[in-house]
Amino acid sequence: MSVVELKDVSKSYGSFAALRDINLQVHAGSVTCILGDNGAGKSTLIKVLSGLHPASSGEVLIDGVPTVLSGPRDALNHGIATVYQDLAVVGQMSVWRNFFLGQELTGAFGRLKTDEMKHITQDQLSAMGIDLPDVNVDVNSLSGGQRQVVAIARAIYFGARVLVLDEPTAALGVKQSGMVLRFVAAARDRGIGVVLITHNPHHAYLVGDHFTILKLGRQIVNVPRDQVTLEQLTQHMAGGSELEALSHELRG
Ligand SMILES: Nc1ncnc2c1ncn2[C@@H]1O[C@H](COP(=O)(O)OP(=O)(O)O)[C@@H](O)[C@H]1O
Ligand SMILES: [Mg+2]
Repeated sequence: MSVVELKDVSKSYGSFAALRDINLQVHAGSVTCILGDNGAGKSTLIKVLSGLHPASSGEVLIDGVPTVLSGPRDALNHGIATVYQDLAVVGQMSVWRNFFLGQELTGAFGRLKTDEMKHITQDQLSAMGIDLPDVNVDVNSLSGGQRQVVAIARAIYFGARVLVLDEPTAALGVKQSGMVLRFVAAARDRGIGVVLITHNPHHAYLVGDHFTILKLGRQIVNVPRDQVTLEQLTQHMAGGSELEALSHELRG
């Protein structure tokens, strides 16, 4: 059974349909890639998944049960964690403070369990293959890729079953993109259902088990890996399907 499923989900803003009849299944231990150009509806899809916006019609099922998410907190309680592009991290704060931000460990009289939090942060990061020499450094001093990875490790530590990543490699170079994608694979190997939003078919194809392409709110491709090649994904993303349709029209 899928952890999360969207059934015929549509989302309108006023009279504008940002998503139409989207069907999607997120399985444990698998990476579902959502591809699409600007304005395709990717962020809207994330908002529906993360409980920020309710669907206008259709159903969201969690563990097979139709569920109306009341907000991001509710989604988190169901194990759906979202790492937004403009990460919710505080640059001038240490890595470990960020890791526990809003979920600090406290002891008697509300005193922060600083040492314990530092240890856990260090352990969790190295368990995921990230070796930060010092979790006391400010997040500002980390690379973009490391920041993504800290946010992902944090979501996993706090019990995410589904991890929604909004364009995690968009602002990164090749090496750092590789690090983030390795981390995506590590999350998958831990049994997490990853939803990877990207407009880069190459990145998607490196780790994806299932591919959906959105175009102006419609799902124009929805296939498992064995039914699509990287060339086909790239062609779709480059508007190849449009060209094909056009040449078909011309042939009459
Ligand atoms: N809150 C909103 N109100 C009105 N229109 C919106 C809103 N959010 C997104 N849209 C529109 O929905 C479409 C899809 O946007 P979005 O989901 O952000 O696409 P993407 O993330 O793929 O670039 C765009 O045309 C955008 O202008
Ligand atoms: Mg977007």
